[in-house]
Amino acid sequence: MSKILLVTGSSGLIGSEVCAHFARELGYAVHGVDNNQRAVFFGPSGDTRWNEQRLRRELKGFAHHELDVRDRAGVLALVKQIKPDAIVHTAAQPSHDRAAAIPFDDFDTNATGTLNLLEAARQACPESPFVHMSTNKVYGDAPNRIALRELPTRWDYADPAYAEGIPETFSIDQSKHSLFGASKVAADVMVQEYGRYFGLPTCCLRGGCLTGPNHSGVELHGFLSFLVKCNLEAREYKIFGYKGKQVRDNIHSLDVARFMAAFVAAPRAGEVYNLGGGKANSTSILEAFKIVEKLTGQPQVYAYDERNRIGDHICYYSDLRKMRAHYPDWDITQSLEETLRQIVEAWRQRKP
Ligand SMILES: NC(=O)c1ccc[n+]([C@@H]2O[C@H](COP(=O)([O-])OP(=O)(O)OC[C@H]3O[C@@H](n4cnc5c(N)ncnc54)[C@H](O)[C@@H]3O)[C@@H](O)[C@H]2O)c1
Repeated sequence: MSKILLVTGSSGLIGSEVCAHFARELGYAVHGVDNNQRAVFFGPSGDTRWNEQRLRRELKGFAHHELDVRDRAGVLALVKQIKPDAIVHTAAQPSHDRAAAIPFDDFDTNATGTLNLLEAARQACPESPFVHMSTNKVYGDAPNRIALRELPTRWDYADPAYAEGIPETFSIDQSKHSLFGASKVAADVMVQEYGRYFGLPTCCLRGGCLTGPNHSGVELHGFLSFLVKCNLEAREYKIFGYKGKQVRDNIHSLDVARFMAAFVAAPRAGEVYNLGGGKANSTSILEAFKIVEKLTGQPQVYAYDERNRIGDHICYYSDLRKMRAHYPDWDITQSLEETLRQIVEAWRQRKP
């Protein structure tokens, strides 16, 4: 009998990668939950049906459930029915800019949806590892208070305490989060609590920029994917503030799925990890333009708006030392250049 994995947000970037990795590499029978809410949040360009179809076509034994994680009774019934051996929760309203326009949808999805799943897990399968995709936005804009130095194409930390990046001990309190960051904090703390209070094997993965060829990148979410799309279509990419030198660490969705698999194999309770590409996979927008131009041979068309996005990080990269210490067999396998090469290839093939 195959082990059973339940993945929420299965048609999204991370969810779909997790489904494929666990089904193909680890032999799991995978149940996906997704209602294509991304298309509701972001319009037709955020549509994830193509990815759902791909999973149905390519993964043996894949079962899709058209379920909204806000549907408490529906979530409980499904978890009780399939009793998964592990749960990976990636369904979310993922954009901080979008959240301001839809505060109830954002909170109900991100915070209450997570609680629905946690409680269902506690009732039906309390021994099963529960992996939650959190975000570095739980730190709010506090990372912007770290002393910075300006380099020709990027900002970097001037404070040697952050030479390796932002650790998990960084404060999540008393900073500006955006409504999205706040709803994700609620979920993050609840996932920790189900670990600490009830002893469930839970973890929060506070993602940096998660990316890869299966992202339906839109202006408000999925910056590298959207940037490549703009380059290929010769469309203008708009930079918001910080001189285009703002830094993000980027991790390929495959390396995210590999870390989740490592946690599921050796779970701990109530853990928190900063899951990003680390310093080696960090880039500024200006630097990303250069890499993509080299890959496509096309110049990047862009405009600059002085106003930065509210609460946007100036420089953020994750300190990966805790992940590497707890799971020494895991490491980043996909470089930034390789990841971008795959994104270019995917957009070229994926014509609507
Ligand atoms: N992509 C990133 O850069 C990034 C960075 C940090 C954290 N994260 C987190 O990782 C997780 C996954 O992000 P992603 O980039 O794969 O996002 P995504 O939008 O590609 O995938 C999320 C999926 O969840 C589905 N969904 C949304 N609301 C739902 C609901 N109410 N019921 C059922 N399904 C629903 C969407 O249709 C979508 O397919 C999210 O929790 C996000 O906050 C992502």
